[in-house]
Order: sequence, then structure tokens, then C-alpha cells
Amino acid sequence: MADGDGAGAAATGKLAELPSGAEKGLPRRAKASSGRTLNTAQIPLVASHPDVYEPCDDSFALVDALLSDKAQLLTLQPRLCMEVGSGSGYVITSLAIMLRQLGSGAQYLATDINQHAAETTQATLEAHGVHADVIVTDIVSGLDKRLAGMVDVAVVNPPYVPTPVEEVGCKGIASSWAGGLNGRQVIDRILPAVREMLSERGWLYMVALEDNDPSDICHLMSEMGYASRVVLKRCTEEESLYVLKFWRDPHAVSSASPKSSGSESWFSQLPFKSLWHKNS
Ligand SMILES: C[S@@+](CC[C@H](N)C(=O)[O-])C[C@H]1O[C@@H](n2cnc3c(N)ncnc32)[C@H](O)[C@@H]1O
Repeated sequence: MADGDGAGAAATGKLAELPSGAEKGLPRRAKASSGRTLNTAQIPLVASHPDVYEPCDDSFALVDALLSDKAQLLTLQPRLCMEVGSGSGYVITSLAIMLRQLGSGAQYLATDINQHAAETTQATLEAHGVHADVIVTDIVSGLDKRLAGMVDVAVVNPPYVPTPVEEVGCKGIASSWAGGLNGRQVIDRILPAVREMLSERGWLYMVALEDNDPSDICHLMSEMGYASRVVLKRCTEEESLYVLKFWRDPHAVSSASPKSSGSESWFSQLPFKSLWHKNS
């Protein structure tokens, strides 16, 4: 897919076992109800907990982005895939099912700071016959020494909603979405931590909101040597969601344009060739 083709277009790649989620018009984050069956990916909600984030538009967008990139993922042949903040396990389970269908023998790792989320992730994985090591930790704390530079695919749907700073990391379901100032408080900790985990050929897929200033996120990553592109953009009644993809590119630092300021849309701020590559 050409770079610009991904931006603004709904993902079309689908597997028979994994039809697109968001197209089914399922409830949005605020309307999520417990006990509902996830027809979206034929992944029944086998476990739930009031403090665990139920898959919603952002989760579906992330899975749809992965589906749209499946040809590239097949080429990559990832050995280790990781999700940070796995919640119900919907995303890591969908990724594992998709890669299994592609004949991949990848291994999987999921983290969440919430014990109940880890248990729900485990139940979802088991119900679908796939395996991941599920670890309760803050982002990737404690894993970095053992797994630094080993992750080929990382996926993150972070807490990104702009909220008062004190809501970030609080107990309960709010910690699933509370992102502090500009929704960036957790994102800005995740990016350098995950970057340390990525292999030389590793890719990161991350959900972001317009309010998070995706242009600035791409620019920060370019300073760390990563190129980027929008795999998927989806506008819901409540938010404009992006799924960003990052990959290591030695030219990213030198050729990144300076970050512009002002109130333009972030698309208009992205003439950066290095941030907008065709081949990853
Ligand atoms: C928006 S939810 C996404 C859940 C799931 N990945 C999905 O897409 O449906 C964010 C998840 O990140 C977890 N989380 C929040 N802060 C975290 C942190 N510092 N380290 C690890 N996980 C965290 C939350 O518990 C929650 O499960």
C-alpha cells in the first residue's frame, strides 16, 4: 500500500475468521456494555471485569490496521510480538490468530498494569487456543533487560484521553483511558520503553487521537530514528483515531523536518518524506 493510501482510508484487509470490527457499528467506548458478544472478530467475550477495558472502536481500529498490513507482516515473519496494555486480550488474541492463519510460529507477550486485565487476557487467549505470556507490570518494567531488542511487532492502544493529571494511573477502569495532559502522559512513557524492546527490524503499531498531536509523536519518534506512517484513520462520532506505524530508519533523524507550531491540522504539517515511507 502506498503511504498516503493508508491515511484516511478504512482498513479493508480481512480474514474469514476476523471480519472487520468497526464496520459493525458496535458501541463506542462510553457506551460499552458488559456481557456482549464480540461479533466483530468472532471472539466471544469469554471473560470480563468491571475494571477491564472492553474492546471498542480503538481496539477494532488497531486490529483492522493489523489486518490491512498482513501482507507486510507475512514478509516480516515476526518471532516475538508484544502488546502493552492488553486489557481484555482482544488485540493480542486477534493478532495471534491472524499470524497463525499466515503460518507464523511467533511467540507472544502481553503486559498490563491491571491484574484483572491480565487475567481476562489470559482467559481470552486460552478460549481461542493461542498462547501468550501475560505479565502484570508497568509498561515493560522488568522485561527490558531480558527482552531488549527482541520484539519484532509491538502493538499498543494506550490510555490516550486528555484528562486531569491526577486521573492517570488511578485505580479502576479510568486508568484504561486517562492520559493526562493532551492524553500524552502514558504515551510519552510508552514510546521510549517500547523502542528499547524493538528489534532492528521491529515495528510498532500504536493508536493515537487527534488531541494527542500525532504529528508531534511522529516527530519524537523520528528523533529516536524511527520513520512512521498512518496505517488507518477512523473518525467516530466522538473522536478521530489514528493507527500509527513506526519502524527503524537510519535516515529518519537527519531528514525529519523541524516540528512546526501553530494550529494547522497535523496532516498539513507532514510533508516529511522520512516519516512517510512506502515500504513498511
Ligand atoms: C485503552 S485500554 C486498551 C485495552 C486493549 N488493548 C484494547 O485495545 O481493547 C488501555 C490498557 O492499558 C492498560 N494500562 C494503562 N496504563 C498502563 C501502564 N502504565 N502499563 C501497562 N498497561 C497499562 C490499562 O489497564 C488498559 O487495559
